[in-house]
Amino acid sequence: MTRDSAAPEVRVRDLTVVYKTPAGELPAVSGVSLTLTPGTITGVVGESGSGKSTLALSLLNAVQPPGRIAAGSVEIDGLGDVLHLGGEDLRRTRGRKVGYVFQAAQSSLNPLKTVGKQLLDLGRSHDVADLRALVADAKALLARMGLDGARVLDSHQHELSGGMRQRVGIMLALVLNAQVVVLDEPTTALDMITQATILRIIREVHEERALTTLVITHDVGAVAEVADDLAVMYGGRVVEHGPIAEVLGTPRHPYTQGLIRAIPRLSGDISLARALPGRPPTLGTLPVAGCVFRERCDKRMEICETVEPETVTYDGRTVACHAAGRPAPVKRREYA
Ligand SMILES: Nc1ncnc2c1ncn2[C@@H]1O[C@H](COP(=O)(O)OP(=O)(O)O)[C@@H](O)[C@H]1O
Ligand SMILES: [Mg+2]
Repeated sequence: MTRDSAAPEVRVRDLTVVYKTPAGELPAVSGVSLTLTPGTITGVVGESGSGKSTLALSLLNAVQPPGRIAAGSVEIDGLGDVLHLGGEDLRRTRGRKVGYVFQAAQSSLNPLKTVGKQLLDLGRSHDVADLRALVADAKALLARMGLDGARVLDSHQHELSGGMRQRVGIMLALVLNAQVVVLDEPTTALDMITQATILRIIREVHEERALTTLVITHDVGAVAEVADDLAVMYGGRVVEHGPIAEVLGTPRHPYTQGLIRAIPRLSGDISLARALPGRPPTLGTLPVAGCVFRERCDKRMEICETVEPETVTYDGRTVACHAAGRPAPVKRREYA
């Protein structure tokens, strides 16, 4: 694990984000608290619809209608609560202080301008004095990711493959030297080998620059290789969080256990890999009381029907589950 005092800490507290639906405003992220340790990579995993992208957008105060951040804070060292930033302050923060690749970055480039022109626009909009150096940095980043930088910068979006566009997105997230970087499914358009290579390069750049990085993926196996910490999301909650080797090695939440069992690379034996039964909830089917995972849970108890499990932290690990055993209380202060 890399720790560097220059890297900022990110503290998400009690974050709730709702989307307006025909059935009213429903939460996509519910009371999430998550700290990104300075200088570390935190992976976020969870099935589609668990709220990963909504959490990522919140780190940049970029949730758009019909969505709305209903409660909570996102404190970033040196920036304060980004949920209180607006207008010009917010525009300057995005890209320069917090670099990002949003999901489907392959299609977010401007089709009418070359990548190089968009890079220069980005540099100018952030008052980068040395645009030549910016272009040189961009080329170097693209070259590291196996692309011909000069050629990519001269290209329009339609001349690039999905995988190339994704690497352009990663380059744009890194090129302004932001110290917090948020990558939402940055490698999904890539084949397995290229995906592993790109994640390794993200790791290298992260270490060289002492960043605090969040990488979202639905591929637990891929992120296992690069992340320091892992947060597991389900139904808009972070149900488990901790050092990645521990979370994957001794998962405490039944959902994490199920996710791991479903991955041959992690469960160790392809014949033992078993898909998690059932489907994740949507905003409309999310239970309003009790544990959001109970319908699919093999450790379900009576209390899970009515009481939402509290998020409990011990041994540096966080878990929200009634059935996840706590260690026997030794010397509890409440005795006094
Ligand atoms: N613009 C939107 N309008 C309504 N519901 C949305 C919108 N965006 C996301 N959602 C819902 O919010 C939940 C979380 O979505 P999202 O954050 O994209 O999850 P993930 O990235 O984990 O797949 C899902 O149920 C999704 O359908
Ligand atoms: Mg997503």
